[in-house]
Amino acid sequence: MKGIILAGGSGPRLDPLTRVISKQLLPVYDKPMIYYPLSVLMLAGLREILVISTPQDLPLFERLLGDGEQLGMRFSYAAQAAPNGLAEAFIIGREFVGTDQVCLILGDNIFYGSGFGQTLRVARAELDGALLFGYRVEDPERYGVAELGPAGQLLGIEEKPTCPKSTLAITGLYFFDNQVLDIAAKLKPSARGELEITDINNVYIEAGRARLKTLPRGAAWLDTGTQESLLDASHFVATLERRQGTSISCIEEIAYRRGFIDAAQLTRLADKCGKSRYGLYMRKALEETNPVEANE
Ligand code: G1P
Repeated sequence: MKGIILAGGSGPRLDPLTRVISKQLLPVYDKPMIYYPLSVLMLAGLREILVISTPQDLPLFERLLGDGEQLGMRFSYAAQAAPNGLAEAFIIGREFVGTDQVCLILGDNIFYGSGFGQTLRVARAELDGALLFGYRVEDPERYGVAELGPAGQLLGIEEKPTCPKSTLAITGLYFFDNQVLDIAAKLKPSARGELEITDINNVYIEAGRARLKTLPRGAAWLDTGTQESLLDASHFVATLERRQGTSISCIEEIAYRRGFIDAAQLTRLADKCGKSRYGLYMRKALEETNPVEANE
């Protein structure tokens, strides 16, 4: 399975924060935002990742993440010339995905929860069609919203409805079989002129080939769309990290714990971080015999 992180858009709601830098590079407490979705793909066991961003931001992501070899991964980069919608990821990424299944995650989505890594690995192993993740929210009208039948079955998804049919938002994490490439290729732009991920999901739902997994109470799916929610996300990460002495979405630690890199390589990566708290944490991860694993 291949992974795609979509980190495009101009972040107009966060201006001027996003005037000269991509939203997905802004800090969430102690690391750039994209580390969080990247860690989700790594926890799912994916090693080949395509990062899609705007032509002007792409070089910054490349500078930050490189070719991935340092993490035992392989990163590729592709530009989205204009904000034509999330579903365009499968048109831009068609060659990269090839004949594989694919997991798309939005570069501004933060997930955290006990056992989440295991949930992802099971999801990947059992994928048949599409797998979507639902999360109960206070303000569903801001998202794609699930319509559920009496037995809780997924009937359809509405994009940013004025009268939501449930409180279940569809998160920005999607697993698809290879058919998604052909479905995306045939999409027409929506009324707002975008190729909608929701239209892809509805094709799978109508064919009876979509499953919805609802994230449990206590799991965190954090929003970074406004100044307030961005600050909340930083506070959330800071609170847990400082209380437990762990790190959420430390990609170097995850690469080590999942066996993508060895101890010698983690030491080299820690050395590169110098005296930052993040670097010290990596060194601690090497010594820990009974780790509290990141998102495991
Ligand atoms: C997008 C999707 C929406 C989904 C959301 C999750 O919305 O269109 O269905 O619920 O991501 O973050 P956007 O962030 O583009 O407003």
